[in-house]
Amino acid sequence: MSKKAIVPGTFDPITNGHKEIIAKAACMFDEVIVAVAKSHKQTMFSLDTRTTLAAEVLSELDNVTVKSFDNLLVDFARDNDCKIIVRGLRVVSDFEYELQLANMNRNINKKIETVFLTASPDNSFISSSLVKDVASHHGDITKFVPKEVAVALKSKK
Ligand code: COA
Repeated sequence: MSKKAIVPGTFDPITNGHKEIIAKAACMFDEVIVAVAKSHKQTMFSLDTRTTLAAEVLSELDNVTVKSFDNLLVDFARDNDCKIIVRGLRVVSDFEYELQLANMNRNINKKIETVFLTASPDNSFISSSLVKDVASHHGDITKFVPKEVAVALKSKK
């Protein structure tokens, strides 16, 4: 049976940290769906742009597809015939929020399990908000995001 996982997030925008987790998941599962959430957050990039950027950045990973979604994650997982959600953990403080999400998702649909992959120390301080903040102050963000994202952030200045 083919093993499929979903890596969900807002990806506003996708960073090297996200890419690391997705690449690790792609090595562990036969198929990975990166699910870009419409999100309740105020985003810098539209859902279409966040999805397109993620697809461009991940195009070299053959078993990864990128889709957007606007419903409950567990419903999106069910509709895509997937029972595993992958989330990244950067630092210990991520765990509390991630455990809450995982338990809520499990409570809504007990057939869906969340697994956690850890970020390398090089990526453990990266977040989309910090990258956007540095970019808005004309700082160099090329070490933290793929080049397609750096170009997109530059065009927002
Ligand atoms: N590398 C870099 N950054 C990372 C990261 C990593 N490995 N892991 C997390 N982050 C950062 C993100 O950049 C983001 O930073 P920001 O807040 O500064 O922008 C933050 O951690 C969390 O973002 P993300 O991983 O995109 O998750 P999220 O919390 O925005 O997304 C969803 C949560 C989309 C998975 C969740 O809201 C969801 O499932 N929504 C659908 C509706 C639903 O089902 N709701 C019920 C959920 S129980």
